Formats: sequence, C-alpha cells, structure tokens
Amino acid sequence: MTNSAVRPDPTVDRFNADPIRSFTMAASLYTDPDVAERERDAIFANSWQWVGHASDVAEAGNYFTASIAGERIFVIRDTEGELRAFFNVCLHRGHSLLEGSGKLDGLITCPYHAWVYESTGALKGARMSERMPDFDVADFRLGDVAVENFCGFIFVHLGEAPEAMDTCYPGLSEAVSALHQNPDTLSLARDSTFDIAGNWKNVGDNLLECYHCHPTHKDFVDLIDMSAYRNDTFERWSIQTGPASTGNGVYEVTSGAAGFTSAFAWPNISFGQLPGHRGIFIFHFVPTGPETTRQRVAYYSPDGEENHVEEAAFDYFNNVLGPEDVALVENVQIGLRSQAYHQGKFICIPDRPEISEHAVHHFQSMVVEALETD
Ligand code: FES
Ligand SMILES: [Fe+2]
Repeated sequence: MTNSAVRPDPTVDRFNADPIRSFTMAASLYTDPDVAERERDAIFANSWQWVGHASDVAEAGNYFTASIAGERIFVIRDTEGELRAFFNVCLHRGHSLLEGSGKLDGLITCPYHAWVYESTGALKGARMSERMPDFDVADFRLGDVAVENFCGFIFVHLGEAPEAMDTCYPGLSEAVSALHQNPDTLSLARDSTFDIAGNWKNVGDNLLECYHCHPTHKDFVDLIDMSAYRNDTFERWSIQTGPASTGNGVYEVTSGAAGFTSAFAWPNISFGQLPGHRGIFIFHFVPTGPETTRQRVAYYSPDGEENHVEEAAFDYFNNVLGPEDVALVENVQIGLRSQAYHQGKFICIPDRPEISEHAVHHFQSMVVEALETD
C-alpha cells in the first residue's frame, strides 16, 4: 500500500488582503520568467528607483549612468546647478551618450556621429544638419526622466509625471532624516555586492521579518534587544527598529547609533543603520534574472570613512549576518520550485512585532496589486 500523494493545487490562490487569514503569494511568482518580464514594466519601470547619492553629482557637470528596467539613463547636474536625468539614448541613431561617471564642461557629445547636447537635454548641434532641409535642432530634446534628491539619495522614476516621493511614501523622509540630519553631506565609505541565487522578492520577504532571527541569527539576537524590536508598516514603506543590547558579545557599540533601523521603501530598497553607524546604509536588491538578484549594501558616512565601531559593524554584516541571509534565501528558492510547495501561511501576531510577518504580507500585497493592475 502506498500513501496517496498530497500535492497543493496551484490553481487555488489563498493570498488574502487580511494578513491574519492570508497565505503567502504563489511560489510560481518567484520562478516564472513571464512574471519577471511583467514586473519589469509593472514594478521597476513604475516606481522610484535608487541610483546614487547627492555626493555623486555635487557640482555642475557631474554625471553618472545607471540602468533601470532595461533602460539606460544618466543623471547630471546641469550648468545652472539643477539636477536632471535623461534616457541615455542619442536621438540620431540610438547610441548611448555617456558611460560610467565623470564631469563634463557643459556639453554632451555622442561618441557615434558627434551630435552635441546641452546638459539641459536640448540638442545644440548635429554635424552637417544645416545642409538638410527642415532640420531644426529645436525639434530634438533628450527624453526626460523624473529625478529626486530624497534625503540625500538620488532616485529616478521612468514613468511620466510620477507623484513626488514625499507623496508616494508619506512619513518616510522623516524616518530617514532621523538617521542623519544632513544626509547630503554623507559620502560612500563601503560598498559590497552579493550575487544571490534567489528571486528579488524572496530577498525582500527575508528582509522584512525577524521571525527567522532567533532560529538563524544567533549573533543578531544577542546584538539587539529583541524584547524592544518593532516592525511597523505605512503607505508603501515599513520600518524595523531595535535597540542594541548593552554588553552584547558581537561588537561593542561605544558611539554612533544606539540601535538597528531598516526602513524599507517599495519596491527594493531599505535605508538603515547598524548599531554604531553615524551615517546611513542602503540595502538594495535588483533582479538580474527570474531567479537571481544582485544585492548591494552601501554605507554612507559623514567623512566617507569607517571608524572602528563602524568597521566592526560592517564586518559583522558582511561576514555573518549577510551570508546567513543569503543562505536562507538561496535555500528557499529551491523550495519555491518544489511541486510540494505552493503557498505558505503567514504568522502575523500584532502584539508580537518582533516576530510577526505582517510587513512581508504588506510587501507581497504591493507585488500582487502591481501585477494585477499590469
Ligand atoms: S547615434 Fe548619436 S550622433 Fe549618431
Ligand atoms: Fe535575516
């Protein structure tokens, strides 16, 4: 006699608007290449995306390039000092205009046939165009991309006339400003990249709950006083906070932030502080394929350097906490592909914020909504 097969029915969807009743969103959303394709337009081309810091475009003529949802863009401080962003595509035959980062003396010259643009996006000249009937440089302008300096960090949005970040994420700027009064003055002190064999949403799910902290992060629960840990959700953002434990055995927090903060903003970034940090660290995760993600952890400090407490904090993050989380995400990604797994069940307990998974449900609700309205 054999046991009858118990397999989930993938046609049943028990994701629910109520986190207490809801199951997790369908596993196929983490593996299906068609979903990844739809997310590119519905999520990444339709949300504010982090691309850099104010210090990258501090002076007129400073620029840097980035790639968002398959589009090449560049951010530049124009000759008048205004921050601008454009699609990085020449209006002649489509070559990219700029590579990497640097400083221009005002004009942008396409490397292909040398059309010349102002830093305001206006076409200044096209070689031999004066010999062409009806050619008017005023008919050509680089495609604008919405750009904002949000608490010192540069974000772009590929959509037309998107709502401002303060409207999109009410209250977030106050939370980020609480980490540092003058974040424009920070500069990059450390930058780490992790290539992860897991879907970007799997990275997000793991970031947004501490239900896994006691079983998997023995040092984190020593470093942080988990009895005071909180996880609060707001419109399109959520925040986890917890004070450092005095006398913890992980590293000594003798200066800087007294606790841990991670303020997540939809869809793929968190502004944070490890205990001891004077500045702000960015945790950013971008899909590189349906089942792969590039995670970047960049720390911006007041002097672009790390003091010994910050060094200990980041060594702990890069050598212990980060790898523990990467292993969890990669392990789960294999499980998400199993025929025996379709939807799990959230553990949402409002009066136990240190373990509740409500912020994961909050994140998944935004994913589901974005894909439904796609
Ligand atoms: S593609 Fe830029 S000048 Fe020809
Ligand atoms: Fe974790």
